[in-house]
Amino acid sequence: MKKAIVIGASSGIGKGIAQLLAANNYYVGITGRRTDLLKAFASTNRNCFVAKTIDVKDTITTPEKLTELVAELGGLDLIIISSGTGDFNEHLDFEIEKNTIATNILGFTCIADWAFNFFEKQQYGHLAAISSVGGLRGSRVAPAYNASKAYQISYLEGLRQKSKKLGIPIFITDIRPGFVDTAMAKGEGQFWVSSITKAAHQIINAINKKKQIVYITKRWKLIAIILRLIPNKIYNRL
Ligand SMILES: NC(=O)c1ccc[n+]([C@@H]2O[C@H](COP(=O)([O-])OP(=O)(O)OC[C@H]3O[C@@H](n4cnc5c(N)ncnc54)[C@H](OP(=O)(O)O)[C@@H]3O)[C@@H](O)[C@H]2O)c1
Repeated sequence: MKKAIVIGASSGIGKGIAQLLAANNYYVGITGRRTDLLKAFASTNRNCFVAKTIDVKDTITTPEKLTELVAELGGLDLIIISSGTGDFNEHLDFEIEKNTIATNILGFTCIADWAFNFFEKQQYGHLAAISSVGGLRGSRVAPAYNASKAYQISYLEGLRQKSKKLGIPIFITDIRPGFVDTAMAKGEGQFWVSSITKAAHQIINAINKKKQIVYITKRWKLIAIILRLIPNKIYNRL
């Protein structure tokens, strides 16, 4: 039985991924802050899930807790970082930006570093993380969110380069959703919204194929191309 950890599995995409991993014969460590939700989720099948409360913003205790969770699982083949936050912040309230940075940048980096070092020691592993199509351009309504996702995209690329240079089979998958029907998908004007089930299937498929970058759903690749092509002059006016 392969072993996986999903960071941010108490709801949304992470929960969907954890369910699908279990259906694919993985023993899965599920984490998040909401212990009650994690416990209820784990109780649906104790042979498949181990719950651990982890607040990724606490970068002191997170590595210790991950090490404990790996011991409880009996190893680790795959870790998926799905934890994330982001709010509209038109008035640049620093507390909102600070929370996004603490979760999506500091928390993300703490886990990515821990995972890469763990996999380097055991000489193999797979790190996947949910960034966002939003990371491809800046946002006037949620500046820290888009910037944090740009950071994740770049950080994952750096780790991919590092694993190649080391010559160790550590696979890095950058998962870039457009819109998925979860609590995080806020605001009007959403389109091509994926169900959690469809998103989770496409994500697991990409992980099984050890893809480097995947858009969820696949047609969001088109939006990514368009976003990159829009000249600054036009983008700044949107
Ligand atoms: N939904 C979309 O349209 C969309 C689009 C692009 C990218 N994404 C990305 O997809 C990822 C998953 O989001 P989602 O849509 O599934 O939303 P969600 O249902 O709100 O899930 C977010 C998950 O992150 C966890 N989390 C948040 N802050 C945390 C913290 N400090 N410590 C530990 N866990 C934390 C939450 O668990 P607790 O609250 O229990 O801690 C929850 O399990 C995020 O990174 C998001 O940026 C989503």
